Amino acid sequence: MESPLNVLSPFFLYLCLLLALFQAPTPCISDPNPLQDFCIRTSPAGQSAATCKAASAVVSDDFFFDGLTKEGNTSNSFGAGLTQATHVQFPGLNTLGIAMARIDLAPGGLNPPHTHPRGSELVMVLKGAVLVGFVSGDNVLYQKVVRRGELFIVPKGLVHFQKNTGKGKAIVIVVFDSQFPGIVPAPFALFGTKPAIDSQLLAKAFKVDGEVVTSLLSNFGN
Ligand SMILES: *[C@@H]1O[C@H](CO)[C@@H](O)[C@H](O)[C@H]1NC(C)=O
Repeated sequence: MESPLNVLSPFFLYLCLLLALFQAPTPCISDPNPLQDFCIRTSPAGQSAATCKAASAVVSDDFFFDGLTKEGNTSNSFGAGLTQATHVQFPGLNTLGIAMARIDLAPGGLNPPHTHPRGSELVMVLKGAVLVGFVSGDNVLYQKVVRRGELFIVPKGLVHFQKNTGKGKAIVIVVFDSQFPGIVPAPFALFGTKPAIDSQLLAKAFKVDGEVVTSLLSNFGN
């Protein structure tokens, strides 16, 4: 027996087409599948939809990026230097759903807990020994010391970190299945917001007294 929905399906199809025709352009909610060989990004940095460089103006250098050859600056309190190769720095990645980054870690350096809301992260250590860990939705910690040539995968959206546990400098290369995976650094997202999150709210959330929260807030500029 045919379900009422099957009988009505041409009607629903028509309705969907009508809706699609008349609705305002919607923002992209995922990395798109390309409709062309490439689309070298021309619009300014940011998340907005990009326009493509005219094909006649595209040159080999549009598919080339040497930004990851340089060592990142690790002279900061984390001892970590992040160099990105997303569609912002490397316009040739636009519409292709892929990006990379280089993380330089001084001895003891830490890439603090953070998430990438739009991408899984494949971690490869080029130099040194790095503790890579992530936390699942069930609050289980998965971590491992990763060494030269070895890989560790961080599933999309989960809190993760990298810490240099070796004696010398470490270099990490990461690959994302998104051209713009986004970064939400946990310490800043909680204590470095503008304006600051209510301190009593934070004290309750972290089961500490107000002084601890005041100190945490001030560490991140609040
Ligand atoms: C590295 O960063 C520090 C702190 O921001 C800055 O003082 C220093 O000049 C930077 N070094 C280089 C080589 O850019």
